[in-house]
Amino acid sequence: MIRIGAFAFGLFITAWLLISAAMGSYTMVTEPEPATAEEEFHLHPKHPGFSFEGPLGRFDQAQLQRGLQVYKEVCAACHSLNRVAFRDFEGLGYTPGQVKTIATEWLIETPDVNPETGEAITRKSIAADKLPSPYPNEVAARAANNNSAPPDLSLITKARHGGADYVYSLLTGYREPLTYRNEDGKMLPEDNRPGDTTHFNPYFANLNLAMPAPLAADGQVTYGEGAPQPTVKQMAKDVSAFLEWASEPKAENRKRAGLAVMLFLLIFAGLCWLSYKSIWAHKKGSGNA
Ligand code: HEC
Repeated sequence: MIRIGAFAFGLFITAWLLISAAMGSYTMVTEPEPATAEEEFHLHPKHPGFSFEGPLGRFDQAQLQRGLQVYKEVCAACHSLNRVAFRDFEGLGYTPGQVKTIATEWLIETPDVNPETGEAITRKSIAADKLPSPYPNEVAARAANNNSAPPDLSLITKARHGGADYVYSLLTGYREPLTYRNEDGKMLPEDNRPGDTTHFNPYFANLNLAMPAPLAADGQVTYGEGAPQPTVKQMAKDVSAFLEWASEPKAENRKRAGLAVMLFLLIFAGLCWLSYKSIWAHKKGSGNA
């Protein structure tokens, strides 16, 4: 009797679940959730086309050097890059002497301690130092940026979907919110317009961010001779490539090792096939197994 009761109860629960699932699916199809403004206005990153893309891609050293210049003259005022040391810049094609000059001339000094008094001081950087942060701590970083701390950029191209494409799109993606229309011709709803301390950018996930457009005008950075024109797009592309390098300076070695392994496996597979053929050659055609 108990068994029959339990069975009936189970049947009842199963039927209930099935009916609610069916009803739920029906309402989901007939009355879909309205899309949020973030869904309607957020854009996927653009693809400016970087030299390092693909299995054979390589960094363009001249571009990385320009990107370092943009980082140094614009972004370093707010963003740290604390996993990179000055001597890593030898990977951008600078000699140890040039790296030393870059380190000593860096605008922000490295925090240290006076060996005699123990007082906190700052001193000129040396090649072995990591790049110094613009703010002494996170509280100071927040205080200076309307309570949004600028993130460290060492791994930003790994941390965001789209990587260097995303950084490029963000830097070139600021738009005027009052006249902006999305692909469907819709104006930005009033609730999603930027506040006093935020700025509209459809490439940013929630559409408004605390960073004002850092690259605002062509020629903001002066490039050396023979370099392309420092348009906003060019500067954005160069600094995005530089940040991609910063997040994985050894990417080229990894790709090269991968290719060498693939080549080895290919040759090895060929050899295996040939030896298989030669081992079994005398069995074939002789008629016996
Ligand atoms: C005036 C200070 C300032 C400058 C200069 C600046 N940034 Fe920012 N940046 C910020 C702040 C503040 C945020 C945090 C924004 C937020 O979360 O709303 C930010 C966020 C970012 C983000 C992360 C966005 C995300 O998805 O979370 C990237 C990438 C970035 N900045 C790149 C740069 C680059 C590259 C430069 C130099 C060309 C630069 N920034 C210059 C203040 C600055």
